[in-house]
Amino acid sequence: MQPVTDDSIALKGTARKLLPSETAAFRDHLMRLDAASRQFRFAHAVSDGFIEDYAVHMSDMGSIVFGYFIDGEMHAAAELRKLGDHWGKAAEAAFSVEKAYQDLGIGSLLMGKVIRAARNRGVHLVYMSCLADNGRMQNIAQKHEASLKLEYGEVIGEIVPTTADYFSIMAEAMEDRVGYMLAVLDLQTRLVKAA
Ligand SMILES: CC(C)(COP(=O)(O)OP(=O)(O)OC[C@H]1O[C@@H](n2cnc3c(N)ncnc32)[C@H](O)[C@@H]1OP(=O)(O)O)[C@@H](O)C(=O)NCCC(=O)NCCS
Repeated sequence: MQPVTDDSIALKGTARKLLPSETAAFRDHLMRLDAASRQFRFAHAVSDGFIEDYAVHMSDMGSIVFGYFIDGEMHAAAELRKLGDHWGKAAEAAFSVEKAYQDLGIGSLLMGKVIRAARNRGVHLVYMSCLADNGRMQNIAQKHEASLKLEYGEVIGEIVPTTADYFSIMAEAMEDRVGYMLAVLDLQTRLVKAA
């Protein structure tokens, strides 16, 4: 199966890491999830208050959140969270795409970025508690079968190969530099819209 790249998405948005100051964009995106997507994302129904609190702690312990932005607004997220104080062998990943933007390849694109970020930090196992009964997530995982070994009864993706290489580290570093510029542009777009 062809890997999903930034260029293969029909929507011309941009995917990048969020800055720690962008908790509001993360919160607003999570608030816009429809009830079913919200339930799938958090594995149970959660209140607006829960999301407020969850978003504020977005960058706790150096966790990574990728966002997909269109015209300065964030419409999808992918999170890679440490399970302790340091990046260890295992981490947790979660994905959310607003309903109007689902099935366009955004989740697959973000999955690729999460796998690369995990590999670059020495993470071998990614817990995705959403996999077992989630057809879309299983579909995405299959698209990354070259990088992920999955057991669908289980909720763990094993990253193969396990070690980072020069290219995966360079690619992430280059994207981070561009991502910082895009964050500034997204902020400007939001300010212009709000004026
Ligand atoms: C799961 C989710 C992250 C996937 O993101 P997405 O951007 O919609 O995914 P993509 O478009 O990259 O891929 C979805 C694929 O699943 C397919 N699909 C849609 N419904 C499906 C179903 N019921 N069963 C199997 N495959 C399905 C789509 O056709 C698409 O495949 P294609 O690209 O070959 O056409 C997103 O739909 C979402 O946020 N859902 C609600 C929250 C959630 O479930 N989060 C995961 C919990 S951590």
